[in-house]
Amino acid sequence: MGILEKFSLEGKVALVTGGAGLYGSCIVEGLAEAGATVYLASRNAGNCLKAAEELQRKGLKVIGAELDQSETESIARLKDKIISEQSKIDILVNNAVLRPMKSPEAIEDFDLSMKVNATGVVNVTRIFVEEMKKKKSGAIINISSIYGVLGTDLSLYEETEMSAGAPDYFFHRAGIINLTRYYAAVLGPYNVRVNCISPGGLFNNQDPRFVERYNKKTFLGRMANREDIKGAVVFLASDASPYITGENIMVDGGLSAK
Ligand SMILES: NC(=O)c1ccc[n+]([C@@H]2O[C@H](COP(=O)([O-])OP(=O)(O)OC[C@H]3O[C@@H](n4cnc5c(N)ncnc54)[C@H](O)[C@@H]3O)[C@@H](O)[C@H]2O)c1
Repeated sequence: MGILEKFSLEGKVALVTGGAGLYGSCIVEGLAEAGATVYLASRNAGNCLKAAEELQRKGLKVIGAELDQSETESIARLKDKIISEQSKIDILVNNAVLRPMKSPEAIEDFDLSMKVNATGVVNVTRIFVEEMKKKKSGAIINISSIYGVLGTDLSLYEETEMSAGAPDYFFHRAGIINLTRYYAAVLGPYNVRVNCISPGGLFNNQDPRFVERYNKKTFLGRMANREDIKGAVVFLASDASPYITGENIMVDGGLSAK
């Protein structure tokens, strides 16, 4: 098989949690463009079905489904659905995130954040990985953030209505990077690779003052666009990266290298 064919995801089955969201929708599209059958799932099944229909109209194999990753039964139901429809799961992208905590003072929202962003991620992984172990094959990609590696720069947000974030986000984004290394170790013997991608900010019509300051912090002089994450996800999901596991790839235009 030539190297370009190894990037193909034809015949593979993928799940992207939170696949109707900002980065999730880019990831779903990238995996489907590479040939995978992709399930996109989050709490609002209607949104997922609508997002899937849009991509189906482009000829992509995308299926919308419901998932609340804070509930074990919901995760198990989705796993049963995918296995009954496809007989396997090759690729899991842990992308979903909930941002309930709006300020450092809102400690009452911390537990809910952990329920989804910590316990939920481990539970989704725990349940889906059983199928990968049976087949002795799989790729898991966790989505973190530059804020899993770096602290925040408060000057970016000055004079804007934007929030500089809350402590739970920095806590679980860093956690998911080292969780990646843990699972890479314990799943290596089953030929399941586990990697992480830490993207930078996706342009979403933020306050122009923020955008201008943010752009200056990157080597490439811009925020991420909808295409920027696709190549890294497809690479890590595919047979083009068979010896890469336990890695965290920064997809941030050089921001963290500056
Ligand atoms: N947007 C950015 O600029 C940015 C920057 C760096 C990293 N990231 C990372 O990208 C990933 C996605 O972030 P986003 O900004 O696209 O988020 P988003 O808010 O646009 O989407 C998050 C998705 O997760 C889903 N979700 C929330 N709670 C859930 C639950 N209990 N069960 C299942 N699904 C649930 C939501 O419904 C939504 O579909 C996260 O890992 C985030 O840290 C985003």
